[in-house]
Amino acid sequence: MRRPDLFGFFQSARDSGGVKRTKHTSDLAARNESVVRESFKKPEKTVAFAAQLELVVVDDDPSILDFLETVLAQPGLRISRFTDPLKAWDFIRRTRPDVVLLDQLMPVMDGMELLSRIVEWDPAIDVVVLSGQYSTERAVEAVQKGACDYLTKPIAPEALRERIGLLLAAPQKKRRAVAIGRELPDAGKFGDLIGRSACMSDVFALVRRIAPHFRSVLLTGATGTGKELVARALHQMSPVKARPFVICNCAAIVETLFESELFGHVRGSFTGATQDRTGLFEAADGGVLFLDEIGEVPLKMQPKFLRALQSGDVQRVGSSVTRRVNVRVIAATNRNLRAMVRTQEFREDLFYRLSMLEIKLPPLADRKEDLPLLTRHFVGQFAKNMEKDVRGLTRRAQAMLSRYHWPGNIRELENVLGHACMMAENDLIDIGDLPEHIREKNDGAGRNERMTLGEVESRHVLYMLEQAGGNKQLAAEMLGISRATLYRFLNAHEQDPAERELA
Ligand SMILES: Nc1ncnc2c1ncn2[C@@H]1O[C@H](COP(=O)(O)OP(=O)(O)OP(=O)(O)O)[C@@H](O)[C@H]1O
Ligand SMILES: [Mg+2]
Repeated sequence: MRRPDLFGFFQSARDSGGVKRTKHTSDLAARNESVVRESFKKPEKTVAFAAQLELVVVDDDPSILDFLETVLAQPGLRISRFTDPLKAWDFIRRTRPDVVLLDQLMPVMDGMELLSRIVEWDPAIDVVVLSGQYSTERAVEAVQKGACDYLTKPIAPEALRERIGLLLAAPQKKRRAVAIGRELPDAGKFGDLIGRSACMSDVFALVRRIAPHFRSVLLTGATGTGKELVARALHQMSPVKARPFVICNCAAIVETLFESELFGHVRGSFTGATQDRTGLFEAADGGVLFLDEIGEVPLKMQPKFLRALQSGDVQRVGSSVTRRVNVRVIAATNRNLRAMVRTQEFREDLFYRLSMLEIKLPPLADRKEDLPLLTRHFVGQFAKNMEKDVRGLTRRAQAMLSRYHWPGNIRELENVLGHACMMAENDLIDIGDLPEHIREKNDGAGRNERMTLGEVESRHVLYMLEQAGGNKQLAAEMLGISRATLYRFLNAHEQDPAERELA
């Protein structure tokens, strides 16, 4: 059904109902432009942006660009327009805009090709495809390739403003994180660490700040959150990066050999000590000693540890000679040392000495906005190692990953994607390629009886989105709500566009 149209022939994609429409001709667009300019003098809805946001519009027809620019112009929004997709691609890579609005059919480079390039390069950029005529297949293809919206020309100015306004509201929230990311040579990468979420950006900033000066640091966080990678980054960014980085896994040492491993021994000091041996503290002299799983250090060894940390004095087992070493110590644990202090499993003095400087690694469940970058990184790596042509995930599979709670964090994600790459039979990983436990945990609306009503609602919306293959138009219809309401819901639940696309 056609909606009464204030702007002559302008009409939203939703209303086009599969009716074939020809691409705008310039004179038609020009005729409407004057109407649009009229209407823009008194915009019905204005979204105010505090910081500069970047929108790129690409269409081979300059009059369409005029129309888009006029309709979307807002204070705080910079609109860059291109008729040449190649020039647009160049510009996008240099400026990393928040949203790209592109025409589907263009000479030189097809809009779909440009869409794929952008999404593969940075999945956090929202790409909206504008099409001259509605086609279900092309809409599905665009969504599967990572477009977050598919609009049909002609489109009503207020509908366009609303759709793009919603997309632009989310980047505001991540502005701080992205600003930090942009300082890095390759945004989203910090040494071997990947992440552009606000909490990981805070971790990177802290590492950068303390790496030149630290004497001891405590790294805490659940298993697989990247503590060892952070330890390596601290060493690499320290003034002693050319000196040794010695790893001691405290959980792997037999209790009776602990002292000898850490501090060394002299020949004959105990049965089996057939020659003098250097301990790990001495081996790390001038460099960094990484004490992994520090919570496993036997209680009776802890005072000797504290002494070595405080004064650098170490004594080999069976020797009365004290040697002084100059070692920077990084300790890591996935246990709750504070609780261990309370139950007297860990010495309070050693805990306070270690925790003067603490870096907390957030669990993956708290930074799902990092999933697209991490996924891209791991899939790329596995595809290369396995010599397969896997280049990504279907949106259904992405949605499934983003709904999973990741108790094993990045290590688990890495394993899951390794498994999936191995199973994949074509270039996209689909849900059938994911391990069974991931699929089992994603049983749609969920059966957890302790969920609040809000959680049930969120889960159900995400489930419907997944069932709709990520197509929001279809999901909204299945949910019996308007597409705008669905956008508002996703926005209100503070999912940024990168994650929203995965959800
Ligand atoms: N931010 C990240 N970017 C890329 N890879 C990561 C990131 N964090 C962790 N990894 C990868 O995940 C795996 C686990 O990381 P790591 O060994 O550093 O975790 P951990 O916190 O030390 O875990 P555990 O407590 O179990 O020892 C490694 O293969 C690592 O390369
Ligand atoms: Mg570790």
